[in-house]
Amino acid sequence: MSSSAGSAETPTPRRRPRWWWITAAVVLAIGAPAGVAGILEHRAWAKTVAAYDAEVARVTDEAERSRASAEDGYASGLDALNDAIDAGRRAYGDSKGQVADDEVRKPLASALDDAGHVRDTEVGYPVTTRTVDRVTRSNPFRRETLPEVDIEFVKGAVPAPADLDAAAADVTEARDAVTQARRKWAFGRLRSATTEGADALDSLRPQVGKESLKTLDDAVTEAEAALAAGTDALDPDRAVTLRHTLLDSTESLWAGRLARILTERRAAARADGIDCRTAKCVALTFDDGPVTDTRRLLRVLDREHAPATFFMAGDNVARQPDIARAVVDGGHLVANHSWDHPQLTKLDDVGVRDELLRTQAAITEATGFMPFLLRPPYGAVDDRVRTLATRVGLDVVLWTVDTDDWRTRDAARTRMRVRTEVRPGSIVLMHDIHPSSIDAVPGIVDDLRAAGYVLVTADLLVQ
Ligand code: NI
Repeated sequence: MSSSAGSAETPTPRRRPRWWWITAAVVLAIGAPAGVAGILEHRAWAKTVAAYDAEVARVTDEAERSRASAEDGYASGLDALNDAIDAGRRAYGDSKGQVADDEVRKPLASALDDAGHVRDTEVGYPVTTRTVDRVTRSNPFRRETLPEVDIEFVKGAVPAPADLDAAAADVTEARDAVTQARRKWAFGRLRSATTEGADALDSLRPQVGKESLKTLDDAVTEAEAALAAGTDALDPDRAVTLRHTLLDSTESLWAGRLARILTERRAAARADGIDCRTAKCVALTFDDGPVTDTRRLLRVLDREHAPATFFMAGDNVARQPDIARAVVDGGHLVANHSWDHPQLTKLDDVGVRDELLRTQAAITEATGFMPFLLRPPYGAVDDRVRTLATRVGLDVVLWTVDTDDWRTRDAARTRMRVRTEVRPGSIVLMHDIHPSSIDAVPGIVDDLRAAGYVLVTADLLVQ
């Protein structure tokens, strides 16, 4: 048994494998889960890194877009503001002298000023920082940290697009007010120019070829349509242009008529042997009639075969149309001296036109002759009155010898005045409303003829 027991005491080679297994089992029991845990930890970390990278990329991308959108927003606001400023400046310039400065143009000027400041302010893009947090690997064997990342975000622009929009809106609002005021202004002016043009067409149609009237005719048609459409529909720029066309063509048609009349009458005078370029011509002119005594003057002039020029007041013509007619029948020239003798320079445009046109109508109705010369009462004339006269077909004629007959009321002194002051080409001012002036005429005619003068109507002497 002992031997068997002894032999049983040496099982060492068989016990070793048992410890190895145990060791292997232990190693396995510990190592396998550790290995698995290691793999899992590695994968989790890889995911964390990927998520971190993705977050950095996403935030970076968003930050870039925030800058781009801030820049775009500012740029488009700036474009709109520039457009508003350009349009506002044009409206401001165009409206000069056309609309009230204080109420209408000043607000636009100040809106433009403010808008200019906003535009010229250097743009800034304020930023904020967004942080991607740091991430630390928890694995004690593989310490690792992904750093914190700060990324700058653009928080809009300064000035903000809303500030640019507000400045542009202020300019546009002020500009609209100016435009509306210009419309009203242009409407009124177009209306009066249209009246002038239409009146000219009525007067000139019987005397002037259709072709010559075409520009004015078309302009009147367009202007009447524009006026019929009302103030709000009016394009003020077009209205300004159209008004110029109306007035310029009215003026040039009348000026053309005047030039033709003067040419024809001078040619006719030359055919009668009178050429004031070489002869000593003088024109006797009589203002303020016709009155009853004008008939006496006509008899004197007829006896002397002396032509004269009569600047008639329209209200006197309306009172004594027969005498006006007798003046024309006597071979004299009839001209316009306003309706009731005001100082034309003190009347507004409508008032001046009314004075001239009523007189034209009265004379034309009484005599069949449409005057083409105007002597403004008191010789009171300026560029405005001259232009208004031209646009109703009248050329302004003053005088070179003032007999002062209305003051002296003395035939002898009136005669003496002419004798001492007359020069070749003189236009002599007298008044047929004063009997003493009529009394002076025979002596004046004798003196002038004795001195070699030729008596003519005033149209042969106007420049
Ligand atoms: Ni007068």
